[in-house]
Amino acid sequence: MRPVIIAANWKMHTTPSDAGDLATTIAARTNVDGVERVICPPFVCLAAVRDALAATPAGAGVGVGAQNVHHELTGAYTGEIGATMLVGLASWVIVGHSERRRDAGETDELIGRKLGRAIEAGLRPILCVGEQLDEREAGQAEMVVAAQLRGCLATFAADPGALETAGLVVAYEPVWAIGTGRTARGSDAAAMADAIRAAVRGLGGGFAGLAGELPVLYGGSVTAATAAEFLAEPAIDGALVGGASLKVEEMAGIVARAGLTAAGRRAAARVAG
Ligand code: PGA
Repeated sequence: MRPVIIAANWKMHTTPSDAGDLATTIAARTNVDGVERVICPPFVCLAAVRDALAATPAGAGVGVGAQNVHHELTGAYTGEIGATMLVGLASWVIVGHSERRRDAGETDELIGRKLGRAIEAGLRPILCVGEQLDEREAGQAEMVVAAQLRGCLATFAADPGALETAGLVVAYEPVWAIGTGRTARGSDAAAMADAIRAAVRGLGGGFAGLAGELPVLYGGSVTAATAAEFLAEPAIDGALVGGASLKVEEMAGIVARAGLTAAGRRAAARVAG
Protein backbone atom coordinates (compact mmCIF):
# COMPACT_ATOMS: atom_id res chain seq x y z
CA MET A 1 0.00 0.00 0.00
CA ARG A 2 1.51 3.33 -1.05
CA PRO A 3 1.53 6.15 1.53
CA VAL A 4 -0.53 9.34 1.26
CA ILE A 5 1.71 12.40 1.50
CA ILE A 6 0.94 16.11 1.67
CA ALA A 7 4.05 18.27 1.33
CA ALA A 8 4.03 22.03 1.87
CA ASN A 9 6.46 24.05 -0.24
CA TRP A 10 6.68 27.46 1.40
CA LYS A 11 9.06 28.77 -1.28
CA MET A 12 10.54 32.20 -0.36
CA HIS A 13 7.96 32.98 2.32
CA THR A 14 8.07 33.22 6.15
CA THR A 15 10.92 34.34 8.42
CA PRO A 16 12.68 32.60 11.33
CA SER A 17 10.48 34.57 13.71
CA ASP A 18 7.10 33.55 12.27
CA ALA A 19 7.74 30.16 10.61
CA GLY A 20 7.59 28.12 13.83
CA ASP A 21 4.15 29.42 14.78
CA LEU A 22 2.75 28.80 11.33
CA ALA A 23 4.15 25.27 11.32
CA THR A 24 2.68 24.34 14.69
CA THR A 25 -0.70 25.88 13.83
CA ILE A 26 -0.80 23.86 10.61
CA ALA A 27 0.35 20.74 12.45
CA ALA A 28 -2.44 21.05 15.01
CA ARG A 29 -5.10 21.52 12.30
CA THR A 30 -3.93 18.65 10.08
CA ASN A 31 -3.47 15.78 12.51
CA VAL A 32 -5.25 13.22 10.35
CA ASP A 33 -4.82 9.46 10.45
CA GLY A 34 -2.74 7.94 7.68
CA VAL A 35 -1.44 11.15 6.07
CA GLU A 36 2.28 11.87 6.06
CA ARG A 37 2.83 15.62 6.35
CA VAL A 38 5.97 17.48 5.37
CA ILE A 39 6.71 21.19 5.68
CA CYS A 40 9.48 22.66 3.51
CA PRO A 41 10.31 26.19 4.69
CA PRO A 42 13.23 28.32 3.46
CA PHE A 43 16.66 27.15 4.66
CA VAL A 44 16.92 29.89 7.30
CA CYS A 45 13.61 28.79 8.85
CA LEU A 46 14.43 25.07 9.08
CA ALA A 47 15.71 25.22 12.67
CA ALA A 48 12.77 27.32 13.85
CA VAL A 49 10.27 24.94 12.25
CA ARG A 50 12.06 21.86 13.55
CA ASP A 51 12.18 23.22 17.11
CA ALA A 52 8.61 24.50 17.13
CA LEU A 53 7.23 21.19 15.82
CA ALA A 54 9.26 19.18 18.32
CA ALA A 55 7.84 21.27 21.16
CA THR A 56 4.18 20.38 20.50
CA PRO A 57 2.49 16.96 20.55
CA ALA A 58 0.77 17.54 17.19
CA GLY A 59 4.01 18.69 15.61
CA ALA A 60 5.88 15.51 16.37
CA GLY A 61 4.32 13.73 13.39
CA VAL A 62 5.26 16.38 10.83
CA GLY A 63 8.40 16.00 8.74
CA VAL A 64 10.64 18.92 7.86
CA GLY A 65 12.13 19.32 4.40
CA ALA A 66 14.48 21.65 2.55
CA GLN A 67 13.57 23.10 -0.83
CA ASN A 68 16.92 22.49 -2.50
CA VAL A 69 20.40 21.06 -1.93
CA HIS A 70 23.73 21.52 -3.71
CA HIS A 71 25.09 18.85 -6.03
CA GLU A 72 28.48 18.80 -4.26
CA LEU A 73 28.99 17.94 -0.60
CA THR A 74 31.32 20.83 0.34
CA GLY A 75 33.59 23.27 -1.42
CA ALA A 76 33.97 26.78 -2.76
CA TYR A 77 30.30 27.34 -3.60
CA THR A 78 29.36 30.70 -2.13
CA GLY A 79 25.84 30.88 -0.82
CA GLU A 80 25.08 27.20 -1.31
CA ILE A 81 23.95 24.50 1.13
CA GLY A 82 25.30 20.94 1.07
CA ALA A 83 23.37 17.82 2.01
CA THR A 84 25.30 16.99 5.18
CA MET A 85 24.60 20.51 6.50
CA LEU A 86 20.91 19.65 6.42
CA VAL A 87 21.26 16.54 8.56
CA GLY A 88 19.46 17.20 11.83
CA LEU A 89 17.59 20.15 10.35
CA ALA A 90 15.57 18.35 7.70
CA SER A 91 14.71 14.78 6.82
CA TRP A 92 13.23 15.52 3.38
CA VAL A 93 14.41 17.60 0.44
CA ILE A 94 12.76 18.85 -2.75
CA VAL A 95 14.97 18.56 -5.83
CA GLY A 96 14.43 19.76 -9.38
CA HIS A 97 11.57 22.14 -8.71
CA SER A 98 10.59 23.89 -11.96
CA GLU A 99 11.32 27.30 -10.42
CA ARG A 100 14.92 26.18 -9.91
CA ARG A 101 15.10 24.66 -13.39
CA ARG A 102 13.86 28.07 -14.65
CA ASP A 103 15.75 30.48 -12.36
CA ALA A 104 18.93 28.57 -11.54
CA GLY A 105 19.29 26.72 -14.85
CA GLU A 106 19.17 23.31 -13.21
CA THR A 107 19.47 20.48 -15.70
CA ASP A 108 18.34 16.88 -15.32
CA GLU A 109 21.97 15.80 -15.01
CA LEU A 110 22.59 18.30 -12.20
CA ILE A 111 19.35 17.32 -10.46
CA GLY A 112 20.50 13.69 -10.61
CA ARG A 113 23.66 14.67 -8.76
CA LYS A 114 21.59 16.52 -6.14
CA LEU A 115 19.54 13.35 -5.68
CA GLY A 116 22.76 11.45 -5.08
CA ARG A 117 24.00 13.87 -2.41
CA ALA A 118 20.59 13.90 -0.73
CA ILE A 119 20.41 10.13 -0.56
CA GLU A 120 23.97 9.75 0.73
CA ALA A 121 23.06 12.13 3.56
CA GLY A 122 19.94 10.12 4.42
CA LEU A 123 17.45 12.73 3.19
CA ARG A 124 14.22 11.59 1.57
CA PRO A 125 13.96 13.25 -1.85
CA ILE A 126 10.90 14.65 -3.61
CA LEU A 127 11.89 14.84 -7.27
CA CYS A 128 9.84 17.32 -9.31
CA VAL A 129 9.06 16.79 -12.98
CA GLY A 130 6.56 18.39 -15.33
CA GLU A 131 5.98 19.75 -18.81
CA GLN A 132 5.48 23.26 -20.18
CA LEU A 133 2.12 24.27 -21.64
CA ASP A 134 3.27 24.14 -25.27
CA GLU A 135 4.63 20.66 -24.68
CA ARG A 136 1.26 19.48 -23.34
CA GLU A 137 -0.59 21.12 -26.19
CA ALA A 138 1.72 19.38 -28.65
CA GLY A 139 0.89 16.02 -27.06
CA GLN A 140 4.44 15.64 -25.75
CA ALA A 141 3.84 15.82 -22.00
CA GLU A 142 4.54 12.17 -21.22
CA MET A 143 7.58 12.11 -23.47
CA VAL A 144 9.02 15.23 -21.80
CA VAL A 145 8.48 13.87 -18.29
CA ALA A 146 9.94 10.47 -19.22
CA ALA A 147 13.04 12.24 -20.56
CA GLN A 148 13.35 14.24 -17.32
CA LEU A 149 13.15 11.03 -15.28
CA ARG A 150 15.72 9.33 -17.49
CA GLY A 151 18.07 12.30 -17.16
CA CYS A 152 17.67 12.62 -13.40
CA LEU A 153 17.85 8.91 -12.59
CA ALA A 154 20.54 7.81 -15.08
CA THR A 155 23.30 8.06 -12.48
CA PHE A 156 21.52 5.41 -10.39
CA ALA A 157 21.62 2.73 -13.11
CA ALA A 158 24.14 0.72 -11.08
CA ASP A 159 22.08 0.89 -7.91
CA PRO A 160 18.41 1.81 -8.34
CA GLY A 161 17.81 0.13 -4.98
CA ALA A 162 19.38 3.19 -3.31
CA LEU A 163 16.43 5.27 -4.52
CA GLU A 164 13.99 2.71 -3.18
CA THR A 165 15.73 2.57 0.19
CA ALA A 166 15.73 6.38 0.35
CA GLY A 167 11.97 6.39 -0.24
CA LEU A 168 12.08 8.47 -3.42
CA VAL A 169 8.89 10.42 -4.10
CA VAL A 170 8.11 11.97 -7.49
CA ALA A 171 6.01 15.13 -7.73
CA TYR A 172 4.32 15.70 -11.08
CA GLU A 173 3.99 19.45 -11.43
CA PRO A 174 2.87 20.72 -14.82
CA VAL A 175 4.74 24.02 -15.08
CA TRP A 176 1.68 25.85 -16.44
CA ALA A 177 -0.32 24.91 -13.32
CA ILE A 178 2.16 26.24 -10.74
CA GLY A 179 0.95 29.40 -9.07
CA THR A 180 -1.51 30.11 -11.87
CA GLY A 181 -4.77 28.98 -10.30
CA ARG A 182 -5.13 26.65 -13.26
CA THR A 183 -4.90 22.94 -12.44
CA ALA A 184 -4.48 19.85 -14.55
CA ARG A 185 -7.50 17.58 -14.88
CA GLY A 186 -7.47 14.80 -12.32
CA SER A 187 -7.65 12.19 -15.06
CA ASP A 188 -4.69 13.73 -16.92
CA ALA A 189 -2.63 13.88 -13.72
CA ALA A 190 -3.50 10.25 -12.96
CA ALA A 191 -2.51 9.20 -16.48
CA MET A 192 0.79 10.99 -15.94
CA ALA A 193 1.33 9.27 -12.59
CA ASP A 194 0.93 5.91 -14.36
CA ALA A 195 3.24 7.11 -17.14
CA ILE A 196 5.83 8.11 -14.54
CA ARG A 197 5.84 4.63 -13.00
CA ALA A 198 5.99 3.10 -16.50
CA ALA A 199 8.92 5.35 -17.45
CA VAL A 200 10.82 4.40 -14.30
CA ARG A 201 10.09 0.72 -14.94
CA GLY A 202 11.32 1.25 -18.52
CA LEU A 203 14.75 2.22 -17.22
CA GLY A 204 15.21 -1.51 -16.74
CA GLY A 205 16.81 -3.79 -14.17
CA GLY A 206 16.29 -2.83 -10.56
CA PHE A 207 14.18 0.19 -11.53
CA ALA A 208 11.15 -2.13 -11.81
CA GLY A 209 11.10 -2.66 -8.04
CA LEU A 210 11.28 1.10 -7.47
CA ALA A 211 8.47 1.80 -9.94
CA GLY A 212 5.97 -0.55 -8.33
CA GLU A 213 5.75 1.29 -5.03
CA LEU A 214 6.81 4.76 -6.20
CA PRO A 215 4.67 7.46 -4.57
CA VAL A 216 3.63 10.11 -7.12
CA LEU A 217 2.23 13.44 -5.91
CA TYR A 218 0.45 16.09 -7.96
CA GLY A 219 1.45 19.75 -7.63
CA GLY A 220 0.17 22.90 -9.25
CA SER A 221 -2.48 25.21 -7.73
CA VAL A 222 -3.70 22.60 -5.25
CA THR A 223 -6.14 24.13 -2.75
CA ALA A 224 -8.77 22.78 -0.39
CA ALA A 225 -11.23 23.27 -3.25
CA THR A 226 -9.18 21.46 -5.92
CA ALA A 227 -7.55 18.71 -3.82
CA ALA A 228 -10.32 16.14 -4.30
CA GLU A 229 -9.83 16.20 -8.08
CA PHE A 230 -6.42 14.62 -7.53
CA LEU A 231 -6.78 12.76 -4.26
CA ALA A 232 -9.73 10.78 -5.66
CA GLU A 233 -7.39 9.25 -8.26
CA PRO A 234 -5.94 5.90 -7.12
CA ALA A 235 -2.73 6.58 -9.10
CA ILE A 236 -2.02 9.79 -7.16
CA ASP A 237 -0.57 9.55 -3.67
CA GLY A 238 -0.86 13.11 -2.42
CA ALA A 239 0.08 16.66 -3.23
CA LEU A 240 2.94 19.13 -3.24
CA VAL A 241 1.26 22.38 -2.25
CA GLY A 242 2.75 25.84 -2.79
CA GLY A 243 0.69 28.97 -2.26
CA ALA A 244 -2.11 27.29 -0.33
CA SER A 245 0.37 25.66 2.06
CA LEU A 246 0.89 29.02 3.82
CA LYS A 247 -2.81 29.18 4.72
CA VAL A 248 -3.95 27.16 7.72
CA GLU A 249 -7.55 26.65 6.54
CA GLU A 250 -6.40 25.53 3.10
CA MET A 251 -3.99 23.00 4.59
CA ALA A 252 -6.68 21.75 6.97
CA GLY A 253 -8.99 21.13 4.01
CA ILE A 254 -6.33 19.50 1.84
CA VAL A 255 -5.09 17.14 4.56
CA ALA A 256 -8.67 16.28 5.59
CA ARG A 257 -9.35 15.20 1.99
CA ALA A 258 -6.09 13.24 1.96
CA GLY A 259 -7.30 11.49 5.10
CA LEU A 260 -10.31 10.15 3.16
CA THR A 261 -7.95 8.74 0.55
CA ALA A 262 -5.82 7.11 3.25
CA ALA A 263 -8.89 5.61 4.94
CA GLY A 264 -10.12 4.28 1.59
CA ARG A 265 -6.78 2.62 0.94
CA ARG A 266 -6.72 1.03 4.39
CA ALA A 267 -10.24 -0.34 3.87
CA ALA A 268 -9.34 -1.70 0.44
CA ALA A 269 -6.23 -3.36 1.84
CA ARG A 270 -8.32 -5.00 4.61
CA VAL A 271 -10.75 -6.39 2.03
CA ALA A 272 -7.92 -7.62 -0.19
CA GLY A 273 -5.93 -9.04 2.70
P1 PGA B 1 1.38 26.19 -6.20
O1 PGA B 1 2.89 25.66 -6.23
O2 PGA B 1 0.60 25.26 -5.32
O3 PGA B 1 1.47 27.57 -5.65
O4 PGA B 1 0.89 26.16 -7.62
C1 PGA B 1 3.17 24.29 -6.23
C2 PGA B 1 4.66 24.07 -6.28
O5 PGA B 1 5.34 24.88 -6.91
O6 PGA B 1 5.17 23.12 -5.69
